[in-house]
Amino acid sequence: MYLTPEQSKRYQQYEEFVIENIKPHAAELDAKGMFPSDETIKKLADAGFFNILFPKEYGGQDLETLAYIMAVETTAKYCASTSILVSAQNSLVGYPFLHFGTDEQKKKYVTGLANGSLIGAFALTEYAAGSDAAKQETTAVADGDYYVLNGTKRFITNAEHADVYVVMAMTDKSQGNHGITAFIVEKGTPGFTFGKKEIKMGIRGSVTGELIFKDCRIPKENILGEVGKGFKIAMETLDCGRLGVAAQALGIAEGALEETIKYVKQREQFGKFISQFQNTQFELAEIATEIEAAKTLLYTTCKMKDEGVRYSKEAAMAKMYCSQVANDAARRCLQLFGGCGYTTEYPLERMMRDAKITEIYEGTNEIQRIVISANLGLK
Ligand code: CAA
Repeated sequence: MYLTPEQSKRYQQYEEFVIENIKPHAAELDAKGMFPSDETIKKLADAGFFNILFPKEYGGQDLETLAYIMAVETTAKYCASTSILVSAQNSLVGYPFLHFGTDEQKKKYVTGLANGSLIGAFALTEYAAGSDAAKQETTAVADGDYYVLNGTKRFITNAEHADVYVVMAMTDKSQGNHGITAFIVEKGTPGFTFGKKEIKMGIRGSVTGELIFKDCRIPKENILGEVGKGFKIAMETLDCGRLGVAAQALGIAEGALEETIKYVKQREQFGKFISQFQNTQFELAEIATEIEAAKTLLYTTCKMKDEGVRYSKEAAMAKMYCSQVANDAARRCLQLFGGCGYTTEYPLERMMRDAKITEIYEGTNEIQRIVISANLGLK
């Protein structure tokens, strides 16, 4: 896909950083289920991976959306686990603070998210509120200058490794999705603890766990946006987050293709390199084309966001398509590795495991189809 010289340079700079600082740890994070180290987090922050879309006054770089996408994509090419940290910081947490926070909240939290001194988390999902996100059972009841939170959030990316959380809770059940409010909750607030940590198939270097609120008192100044606007805040945030998941998926697909091209040029069978078999060539031709199509869809959607055009449908399409491409590419590339691809000697088996989550989180691909079809004028 055509990129301006500046965009190409940025992609290359991000990739060089990731190869030097992230790639060497990818296999270990996966094997041990380890969160990226404080040193890695500091390096990512210093290299400008956390503050791409934030305005300069809050320590950001104020770059185009494509820069955020490239940061996630290049990270995912070598370590999908670390890429979701980059995505969440910029989108799932950065977006709601920037677009709905007061100036005071932005100064307090966005600057910290930008420089990596604060890790953020976005808490929407619950046991009964997965795809049906409006069915929030966590409650927030007004009590003087406070709201009292009770409930459990699950599948929360960054879980106990975060410092600040955007938490959705029901403030008025009778209002349905209009009764949901977003709260800022800091780690260490009395009544806020962590529960089960998930053991996952992939992205094992990203921590996913429960947040438990038991009579947790949150000052009213920690409401993010307006009372009753939490669902819209969550949906808008997810539009931006879904671009990040699409970028993660695209990066995984690109990583799988690159590894496979290297491998087939040195693996000999029947007296020639397997790159010389037409099956290999045709498989890789198809995968490369799918990747190019995914990239074009995703990069074009970034422009819509920058132009201020509603891009919910295109974000859903990009997330759905890129994640399908990632799973298809990882599976077919692994097949070209034969038995070697099934072992941890090569990253293909990790890529295949990591790819699966991109079809599930930040809205399953079935939810993306709901969003897309709702925008096709069928009613
Ligand atoms: N932007 C702004 N507003 C939006 C919106 C958007 N993208 N999408 C919907 N809305 C608004 C609608 O306009 C509507 O407003 P009104 O009530 O004022 O008319 C309101 O929200 C409700 O819309 P719907 O009737 O379409 O809502 P719904 O209850 O039918 O649900 C859904 C729609 C698309 C299925 C939604 O529930 C959804 O996206 N579910 C999936 C949730 C999800 O992605 N969860 C992932 C959590 S994050 C994660 O994965 C963990 C992690 O940390 C990585």
